[in-house]
Amino acid sequence: MAESLAVKLLFVGDVVGGIGRRTLAALLPGLRDRHRPDFVVVNGENAAGGVGITRKTARELLDLGADAITLGNHAYRHREVYDFLDQEPRIVRPANYPKGSPGRGHVVVEAGGRRLGVVNLSGQVYLEAVRSPFAEIDALLAELRGRADAVLVDMHAEATSEKVAMGWHVDGRALACVGTHTHIPTADARVLPGGTAYVTDVGMTGPRGGVIGVKREQALERFLTLTQVRFETSDEDPWLNAVLVEGDANGRALSIEQLLLPNGA
Ligand SMILES: [Fe+2]
Ligand SMILES: [Fe+2]
Repeated sequence: MAESLAVKLLFVGDVVGGIGRRTLAALLPGLRDRHRPDFVVVNGENAAGGVGITRKTARELLDLGADAITLGNHAYRHREVYDFLDQEPRIVRPANYPKGSPGRGHVVVEAGGRRLGVVNLSGQVYLEAVRSPFAEIDALLAELRGRADAVLVDMHAEATSEKVAMGWHVDGRALACVGTHTHIPTADARVLPGGTAYVTDVGMTGPRGGVIGVKREQALERFLTLTQVRFETSDEDPWLNAVLVEGDANGRALSIEQLLLPNGA
């Protein structure tokens, strides 16, 4: 089947609001031409108005060419998407959420004879999850053995320590373990010794002119006054943050490259 096929994967960090979706739409075609990825996976937990995802915004990301969408702590922000999470296998929410809750935590997507397992996990430091992401990924990797040629883990977590630990935990067992959630790209992308591409945080695809996506004057007012402030998505200085991972036919990573690109430059 996929015995001699190398794999190239583009993973796009948290797409934030309409400005993030427009940035993805503007830059993805060029990235496809230049890098020819076999798979494009997009974190969409902030795709709708900056928080959560809706049926419409999920469809938009899929129509733009996402092979799969991962989520995070904002997965259930919009009730209207719950049915869609159950119906659309290409969207995954954290696997270590309650078993009976809407959606699923992993999917296998296929392209050109390659099978990519995509797993979404939530950290437990400062975030809610009902099971340890470490035990969860062990169970899922066992389940995916023989069903996927390579596995991508999106570790959606706040604490850098928890993400680094997850990288080591899956090293040699996953093609890539990429962190999301903080919206700030970290400078530590590397291939771990066992052959897993790792980065603590991919960053976001959205407005760098705000505060992790929010209009900066609103975020500042909240910090300065501690009062309730309505948050809106910033419209300043959109960037696309992503990583490009190349793997061999055994699902081991050969390289990871960060792509930090302004929209419109
Ligand atoms: Fe996010
Ligand atoms: Fe998040």
